Amino acid sequence: MTKAERLPATTERTQQRGWSAHFSDPGGHVWLNTAHQGPMPIAAVRAASEAAREKSAPHTIPDAAFNERPEKLRSLLAAFVGGRPDEIVLGDSTSHGLNLIAYGLSWRDEDEVLCVEGDYPATVLPWLAQQHHGVRVQFVQRDAQGRIDPGRVREAVTARTRVFALTWVDSFTGAAADLAELGRVCREAGVLFVVNGSQAVGARPVDVRATPVDALVSCGYKWMCGPYATGFTWLDPSLIGMIEPRRVHWLAQQRGRGLEHMRSYTIEDLGVRGMDVFCPADFLNTAAWTSSVELLAGLGAHAVNAHGQQLVQRLLDGLDQGLYEVVGPQASQERSGLVVLGHRRGRVEPTVAALTAEGVHVAVREGNIRLSPHLFNTFEDIDRALEVLNFSEG
Ligand SMILES: Cc1ncc(COP(=O)(O)O)c(C=O)c1O
Repeated sequence: MTKAERLPATTERTQQRGWSAHFSDPGGHVWLNTAHQGPMPIAAVRAASEAAREKSAPHTIPDAAFNERPEKLRSLLAAFVGGRPDEIVLGDSTSHGLNLIAYGLSWRDEDEVLCVEGDYPATVLPWLAQQHHGVRVQFVQRDAQGRIDPGRVREAVTARTRVFALTWVDSFTGAAADLAELGRVCREAGVLFVVNGSQAVGARPVDVRATPVDALVSCGYKWMCGPYATGFTWLDPSLIGMIEPRRVHWLAQQRGRGLEHMRSYTIEDLGVRGMDVFCPADFLNTAAWTSSVELLAGLGAHAVNAHGQQLVQRLLDGLDQGLYEVVGPQASQERSGLVVLGHRRGRVEPTVAALTAEGVHVAVREGNIRLSPHLFNTFEDIDRALEVLNFSEG
């Protein structure tokens, strides 16, 4: 079979290029690695430059900006996931949110936390770090394709289980967990359901009001296309009161009082704002990320997801599955924007080297190739990857 025969028909070359126009010209490179880092849109780069220019002339930064800019971001993030601003903690990472929950809950000896075997360390380590409080971390297994069976979770929950912590889209297989079903199991058992959405939020629509989760945590620098060192946490109102912030930021405590008088040393319960990363008015990152979220919200999470899934479908349809094993599930309701491939005949490194030589950038994770197209990618990008993948013997 020739290369041309193996590739899917390109009649759909009308594939909209409009969204790639929101991003810098990649100069012939194809970025299929949003699961590692998403590129910042052009508007976000401009916003960061403008913020840098302001910082070079501080008289141009009004005092009100210290409050208004993080609050604008908080509102945008709330709307993006279907929550309210008073439920959003501004962070700098996924780890910020997961740690604030793990360190903020008051633990009783022999409390249990249920995690998933082989899950991303950011979702596991904060609970393991509570072992000195007598917390025991138990693990539930995924199946070979990365699925998590709600029945297994139900069996693994005991009277002592307080939290089930899970990564929504698995970084190593691309499997998307069924939050509705798993959340239902947690609700029935009275277990808090804490979800790491870093490989999903920005690519998959989510409505926290309609999903039985208690916390949704995400970084901002992958599928949300923000700068590095961004993240947020949505907390269900019932969980907010259960978390002790454990740290205090003087500027958050100053809220509403201006900067003229600050030596009253009061510590108030500020809800989510008392849990924010310190200095949430970090102007460069905040400006850029605000811009990225505005772009994603304007395009619409459903449309972004539909576009991403068309790209994934093209990749799966065009892939020589005699040469590669698709590690995660392929059915649309179980897969995600991450496609993870094992080479059936050899190692993946030569294939990845060949892809890189052609300017196609992917990741290697746990011995497999991971491709993760997003809104700025096109069918042509997928075809460029397929042209190398299908002719690499490993
Ligand atoms: C599932 C998952 N969680 C978290 C992270 C990153 O964590 P953090 O934002 O704390 O650096 C990654 C990064 O690859 C990830 O894949």
